[in-house]
Amino acid sequence: RHLCCPGTVAANVGSEEQPLGGSEDKIPKKRFSEVQEERREQAQRTVLIRCPNNVNEKKFLKYLSQHGPINNHFFYESFGLHAVVEFCQKDSVDSLQNGTHTPKQRTDPVIPFKSRFLNLKLKNSSNQIPQQSYAQTNKQLPPSSKKLFELLNYAENIDDQLNTLLKAFQLTEENVRLRHLTCSLIEDIAAAYFPGCVIWPFGSSVNTFGKLGCDLDMFLDLDEIGKLDVHKNAGDFLMEFQMKTVPSERIATQKILSVIGECIDNFGPSCVGVQKILNARCPLLRFSHQASGFQCDLTVNNSIALKSSELLYIYGSLDSRVRALVFSVRCWARAHSLTSSIPGTWITNFSLTVMVIFFLQRRSPPILPTLDSLKSLADAEDRCILNGHNCTFVRDLYKIKPSGNTETLELLLKEFFEYFGNFAFNKNSINIRQGKEQNKPDSSPLYIQNPFETSLNISKNVSQSQLQKFVDLARDSAWILEQEDKSQPSLSSKQPWGLATLLLPPGAVSTPLSKKKKKPMNEKVKGLLASIKSSTTDSSKGTHGK
Ligand code: GTP
Ligand code: MG
Repeated sequence: RHLCCPGTVAANVGSEEQPLGGSEDKIPKKRFSEVQEERREQAQRTVLIRCPNNVNEKKFLKYLSQHGPINNHFFYESFGLHAVVEFCQKDSVDSLQNGTHTPKQRTDPVIPFKSRFLNLKLKNSSNQIPQQSYAQTNKQLPPSSKKLFELLNYAENIDDQLNTLLKAFQLTEENVRLRHLTCSLIEDIAAAYFPGCVIWPFGSSVNTFGKLGCDLDMFLDLDEIGKLDVHKNAGDFLMEFQMKTVPSERIATQKILSVIGECIDNFGPSCVGVQKILNARCPLLRFSHQASGFQCDLTVNNSIALKSSELLYIYGSLDSRVRALVFSVRCWARAHSLTSSIPGTWITNFSLTVMVIFFLQRRSPPILPTLDSLKSLADAEDRCILNGHNCTFVRDLYKIKPSGNTETLELLLKEFFEYFGNFAFNKNSINIRQGKEQNKPDSSPLYIQNPFETSLNISKNVSQSQLQKFVDLARDSAWILEQEDKSQPSLSSKQPWGLATLLLPPGAVSTPLSKKKKKPMNEKVKGLLASIKSSTTDSSKGTHGK
């Protein structure tokens, strides 16, 4: 369609055209840094345009092409119609901006901050155009639960259900573009204070586990500024920039976020509800970017978190089963309120992902390698020490041998619930570095070792009662899948089956969970089985308590 651009990005995100995974070997597996650089460059050639609802797509593109060839575009709805337009060359953006007015006739006074977020006005808005010429919009949100249940019911088997769920929820190519564009727009604002800074997305926007509608985690990278310095030979002289000094790194972070927060609040087009959360362990700015619809969290120099995102990206790209399993487990946890969008004593998506990775390292043969083995495959260039922590691991996906394990997703899902339904949380910690349970170093109910800052627990916040809820639901779900095995669904059945039954809200009628309550014998057998298991594996004491 558009052949003019040199820098067309084929990233390892789960778009329809670019599926991921170990079995799809034909797809090039790019390095994380390569994908990030390409996406950033692509975003810099892109503008965001607010359009009237009756915009004529053809005329719109023709008008914009005056500034240079367009590589890609799409429309979407978020508080009105918007278009993302990617030019082939960055110069075209400058040309478009030069031909753009600042608003004049408005009654409200404006702060004249020029950005790459533009507003299109039609000169003759009464000019009616046929409905079929209206721009088609691209969806940025996941399917409703009704739609999801329909999709799951049509699937052929449980494996197909897990893959269907993945396809329905994963970030689309367009959504990924919009995430990088939003970072790029915020970077323009931050660059007013810190020329040469970079804002990188991290977390689930880039780690291959992002679900449509998830937040946009971004971090302001000020180290990039230093990298521009050229060390010229100047004889005996050594010239340095004069810097302002503050008592600690934390205070520096707080001050930087504070001024950028003011800037985003006062001058950031479409940025609303800016909150400065500066006293948190990791100080951040939270705001909502209305035009893209993203809830944004901005932190500073959070390079270990970016490294964690890279590690998850590698795990998510190694085998196609990983993402399918993680998405289903995350959806299951959300459906049963084990996770929440507000912080609290519950398990986070990040912790759940690490639990799935750990479980896949424990299979025989393992589906995923341990972090230590990824470290042993690293070469000198992969070496990475951040804040004194060794964050080295191999970054070239081709150097990692694919797993010989051929277990089905159905089996893995059931075994995941079995495994954690019976895990000795009371005495063991989860550790993806070694891929082995370890003795817990403290009495936190759930202990998941931080892969890089190894003396920290990423699930320190989780309470005993939340962990117990997780264990109970895992056991129930293992049991439901066990029953499913015995009664394969008829395809014409309108009743939810397989994965769908696991996602039904608690208390929903006609679910195996509620049916189960009417069957005391089954409940008894289940309890008996659980107690046999817990006595043989010495599990569950910690979670059931005294
Ligand atoms: P979503 O729930 O989809 O947003 O998943 P997420 O992975 O983006 O999680 P979140 O937005 O909570 O955090 C963003 C990133 O910060 C994660 O991917 C991790 O890299 C990091 N992170 C989050 N929580 C912790 C934690 O408790 N400890 C550490 N070390 N890193 C964390
Ligand atoms: Mg996030």
